[in-house]
Order: sequence, then structure tokens, then C-alpha cells
Amino acid sequence: MGQDRSADIHHERSGIVFRPGLEGVPVTQSAICDIDGLQGRLAYRGYPLEEMAAHSTFLETTYLLIWGELPSPQELRDFEAEVQMHRRVSFRVRDMMKCFPATGHPMDALQSSAASLGLFYSRRAIDDPQYVYDAVVRLIAKIPTMVAAFQLIRKGQDPIQPRDDLAYSANFLYMLTEREPDPLAARIFDRCLILHAEHSLNASTFSARVTASTLTDPYAVVASAVGTLAGPLHGGANEDVLAMLEEIGHPDRAAAFLEEAMATKRKVMGFGHREYRVKDPRAVILQSLAEEMFARFGKDEMYDVARAVEHEAATRLGPKGIYPNVDFYSGLVYRKLGIPRDLFTPVFAISRVAGWLAHWREQLGANRIFRPSQIYTGAKARSWIHGEDRAPATGA
Ligand code: CMC
Repeated sequence: MGQDRSADIHHERSGIVFRPGLEGVPVTQSAICDIDGLQGRLAYRGYPLEEMAAHSTFLETTYLLIWGELPSPQELRDFEAEVQMHRRVSFRVRDMMKCFPATGHPMDALQSSAASLGLFYSRRAIDDPQYVYDAVVRLIAKIPTMVAAFQLIRKGQDPIQPRDDLAYSANFLYMLTEREPDPLAARIFDRCLILHAEHSLNASTFSARVTASTLTDPYAVVASAVGTLAGPLHGGANEDVLAMLEEIGHPDRAAAFLEEAMATKRKVMGFGHREYRVKDPRAVILQSLAEEMFARFGKDEMYDVARAVEHEAATRLGPKGIYPNVDFYSGLVYRKLGIPRDLFTPVFAISRVAGWLAHWREQLGANRIFRPSQIYTGAKARSWIHGEDRAPATGA
């Protein structure tokens, strides 16, 4: 309260410097993802994001992120086949999900159901490569099934089973919408998953690494990361962007909206990023995917509003290095794909599981438990006060 949120705080007694939000503070070494926030470049294991989005598939990207190298054709076929075999979730998990309130947020449903997998596969043999492989396969395979299942369950329907003849992304869209998707729509969705798969030490990945560092099971690692991703400053922003565009309603109102947002210090959702001072490279590709969707399946009128917001923000927020981030255009693509708004963040989670698991493995490879320190700002040593002698607590 009242402190400058971004300034370093020096603690005289210990000599410790506290940097709020850990801005610029390395918390690990990592070989997974490289970000150049000044040039707007991003690479997975050295491969530029643009090439990944153009040539790879989500499952191939997952393999690369987790095991460090692109798979051979046979390794990829084996991995795809394993994932396909494990897509189904136990009827017990589905029954548990039927007890969730239909009005609950799908991210809460996903966090609970991801955590529940630990009940079924509770062995913590994290030194056993086969256990690690099986856990990766299960999480990558089952998370989309659980997201789609909750969507149908909350509508009062039974979840539909995965279809073995459909590839990963097409199968998810099928389980969600109950219709086999157009091949272009499925490919665009798969590219969205590639773009969201990994992004270094963001809040949810940090959360995953902290949880991993206790040597708990990977289902707990993913569940803690899902809970962290849900917040509106992180993955939850993609849902809020569409609400904001609808509130603006028309491209002509973008300038006035931004003026008011700046005057009242309201955050423009889908803008700003700790790592970037330019437009997020993922937003650049997502915008082109949105245009591809609109060219084929018809335009979304909110796209013109989004472009007007970006245009007007360039002179107002651009000088502070605040530009569209990954969440700004993704919702427009998802909406055109028929994905309900409150599933945008669970869709983000489906993809980011790949990054979280890559960091889980990397953390275990050189583990030391995270246990940072703090600067104590509370009361000095005090003598106990008996109840009858206490003044009423203020602010209680
Ligand atoms: N709209 C208006 N002003 C902003 C915005 C924004 N979206 N983002 C940052 N600022 C301003 C902020 O008001 C502050 O100004 P001042 O110095 O005058 O007080 C300055 O920029 C620094 O902001 P900050 O919140 O301290 O920056 P941060 O690095 O701690 O936070 C962020 C980064 C992404 C949380 C923030 O930019 C934000 O809240 N953006 C909106 C929510 C959003 O789109 N989140 C998705 C992030 S990207 C994907 C993901 O992580 O899932």
C-alpha cells in the first residue's frame, strides 16, 4: 500500500534488494525458450516462432519443447499414437465433473480435474524416464478432453468420446462443438496452440517450476500452473479483451475509450508485456490467422474495433512500450472457431501444458527447492495481551 510497485527496495539490516514482481531477476537457467523483447523475436529451442507456426504441428512442437530436439518421423508417429491412445478420461473423472456447478468457471473445473489425475496415477517415480514419458502423454492427451467434457456437462449433456480418426486439434474441436471441423479451421487452431505453447518464466510457468522443485507429482505441477494462468493479468486477459471490444462497440469510439482509460488508469486488456517493448510476435501471427479465418468463414465486426484500438493506442501507449500482446487477437480467432468466451483461457492452458512440462523436466534436471526470502515489515517483538485488556482491533 502506498509503495512504488516497480522501484527497488533496499533493506538496510540484511543488505537485500527487493524488486517487486521480480522484474529482470533471473530465477533459473533455461534452454527452452528465448525472447528478444526489443526486436519482438521468440524462439523455441532455437527455432523461430514464425517457422514453428508455418511448418510444425502442436504435438511436434510439444515434443521439441519437452525433449529438446525435433522428433524423427518415427518418434513423432509414436508420440502421436501414444497421445491418441490416452485421450479418454476415466468415468470417475467425468462423474466428478458432473458434480461441479454448471455456473463455475471452466478454468476452476480444469484446475480441479487436472489435479484429480494425481489420484489415479499417484506414483511419484520422477527419476524413471518411463514415468515421465507416460505423465507427459497423459497430460497432453487428457487436458483437452477434460476441457471439452466440462463444456458439454455444463450444458446438461454427456461428454462425447474422442475420435481416433481425427488429429489432436481437429479432435478437440469435434469434442467441443460436436461437429467435425473444417480442415482449415483445425489447422488454424493447431497453429494457435503452437503460438501459446511456451513463453519462458511467465507467472504460471514460474508457479509450475516452484511446485516442481518440491518433487511433487506432475499433475500437481500442472494444476498449480492452471490456477495461476487463470488470472486477468495473465492468461485470463484473452477473455476480457472481447468484453472490452464489445464495450467499445464501434471503431469510432476507440479513441475516446483510450483517452478515458488513460485518464482513469484503466488497463487496456491485451496490451502490455513485461518482456516486450514492441508488438508481441505472437500477436502479429495471430492477427494474420484471424484474417485467414475471416477470409474463409466471414468477418467478425469486432475485428475493426480491435484494429482501431491498436491504431489509436500506438500514439498513446506506444511511447511507453505498450503494444498488443498474445491475448489481443486470439479471442477473435477462437470466437470464429465456435469456442465460447470463457473457454479461451482453458484453450490457452491446453497449449501451455507443453511449456509447463518442459520446465518440469528441466527443473528436475538440476533441482534445488525454491525458497526465497522476504523483507519483514511487521511489528517488532511485543508482549502478550490478555483478552480483557485488548482494545478493539481496527479495520477487522
Ligand atoms: N494498459 C494501460 N497501461 C498499461 C498497460 C495496459 N494494458 N500495461 C501496462 N500499463 C502501464 C501501467 O499503468 C504502468 O504505468 P505507470 O508506470 O504510469 O504506473 C506501466 O505501464 C507499467 O505497468 P505494470 O503493470 O507495472 O507492468 P508489468 O510489467 O508489471 O505488467 C502486464 C505486465 C501484462 C500485467 C500489464 O501490461 C497488464 O496488466 N496488461 C493488461 C493485461 C493483459 O493483457 N495481460 C496479458 C499479458 S500477456 C499474456 C499472458 O501473460 O498471459
